[in-house]
Amino acid sequence: MNSTTIVIFGASGDLTGRKLVPALYNNFRKGRLPENTRIIGSARSAFTDEAFRAKMREDIQKFAAPDFDAQTWEKFAPSLHYQSGDMSQLDDYLALEQRLSSFEGKRGNRLYYLSVAPQFYPIAISMMGAAGMANETEQTGYRRIIIEKPFGRDLVSAKALNGMIHKTFQEKQVYRIDHYLGKETVQNILVLRFANAIFEPIWNRNYVDHVQITVAETVGVGHRAGYYEKSGVLRDMFQNHLLQLLTFIAMEPPAIYEADALRNEKVKVLSAVSPPVGEDLAKHAVRAQYEGYRNEPGVDKNSSTATYAALQLFVENWRWQGVPFYLRSGKKLADKISDITIQFRRPPHQLFNSQAGISERFTNHLSIHVQPDEGLHLRFAAKTPDKGMDMQPVDMEFHYKTSFGETAIPEAYERLLLDALNGDAALFARSDEIEYAWKIIDAIHAGWDGPQAPPMMTYNLGTWGPEAADAMLARDGRSWVQSDGEHKM
Ligand code: BG6
Repeated sequence: MNSTTIVIFGASGDLTGRKLVPALYNNFRKGRLPENTRIIGSARSAFTDEAFRAKMREDIQKFAAPDFDAQTWEKFAPSLHYQSGDMSQLDDYLALEQRLSSFEGKRGNRLYYLSVAPQFYPIAISMMGAAGMANETEQTGYRRIIIEKPFGRDLVSAKALNGMIHKTFQEKQVYRIDHYLGKETVQNILVLRFANAIFEPIWNRNYVDHVQITVAETVGVGHRAGYYEKSGVLRDMFQNHLLQLLTFIAMEPPAIYEADALRNEKVKVLSAVSPPVGEDLAKHAVRAQYEGYRNEPGVDKNSSTATYAALQLFVENWRWQGVPFYLRSGKKLADKISDITIQFRRPPHQLFNSQAGISERFTNHLSIHVQPDEGLHLRFAAKTPDKGMDMQPVDMEFHYKTSFGETAIPEAYERLLLDALNGDAALFARSDEIEYAWKIIDAIHAGWDGPQAPPMMTYNLGTWGPEAADAMLARDGRSWVQSDGEHKM
């Protein structure tokens, strides 16, 4: 009988209880897990299967709250197991391998999930290799591995990590996860662009003035200072989430919806991105820290880690030549929001002189609300009734909530875990994508460490970041679009 085992390394960590097991539970509840699926948590802590189940029950109740029901849980619980192990001990991997084989018999598919601190990736992967856990053949069933970010801390370390992984796993076995790609609204960018005929003809430099990508958070570093101090906003958010969003907006249509076809197009975009360097760096890359960051527990009193950045990037190709992509992200900002705005050019000729009620700078824009209140807003001018030819900006809106129901949007991990189980790597990053993304981030870091580095700004808590980021757009006669669709003046 065919069986599937999901092995979560780092099972006592936050991610397992908060995201992974609730997502697997939901997939089970929806009848989407393959038949005979087992989940084995592994970490150093000593748990029995029963104790692990009890902990997971609590977590599911908390993090999959409205979807928890005791009956489904009773059916799901027996599939959960636990095996304690030390990441650096080959014997522990051999014991795990033995337990897996005893479950599986001759054949069983396996999905490993590496949810451990990144410094353990090399040892875990080489030990898995040494224990024979990575060999996949027709007879054994598949062996796949999901790896969490951060994937290296620069190009050199990412290449070394890729090289190291490829000694044990072939690229086709590797699923590098970026949870932004599991978000419905991000996948919908592909549908919006490539399943509709009306957007693509204007999706280029002839009609688009610029693109804005904002990923704002209200939280600070919290208890993650140890990680964050070494990472900062460019490594934590830009190298992965923001650049992934950029690729979805900027890519050419792939000929087919298939992992490598899609990822080839994304790689082309990343390889065409030109980051600001030299004198441009100070003008086109703003960095800042939130007020009080240096007093956070675990943060260096002289820390030079940026918690906010705003960048102007160009995609140097036929479609996007000369169109700026403004990206910004930060912690402790005014709102938790991820938005993408495609700002269109002005009409070539102004027919209506009387512009009362509408700003001089009014143009059409399409905003993709990635989260929260997921949806799309298309802004255009409408004639104000009974007021001559005065105009006002109005929005045509699509909200997931109203079209598909309040609970239509699943957690990103549900889709991604399912895709990995189904062998669909389209929404996972390939090694070359990761490396091109690092090239961009490394160039900016190099500038920030060099003689032409822009100063580190401080921004007030609960604002939209430093004024320098507004000035960056204002110099080009532009401004950030706020979440209500208005331009920040
Ligand atoms: C993670 C970052 O990848 O994404 C965190 O490490 C950040 O610092 C998080 O808070 C944001 O994700 P989301 O889905 O809440 O926007």
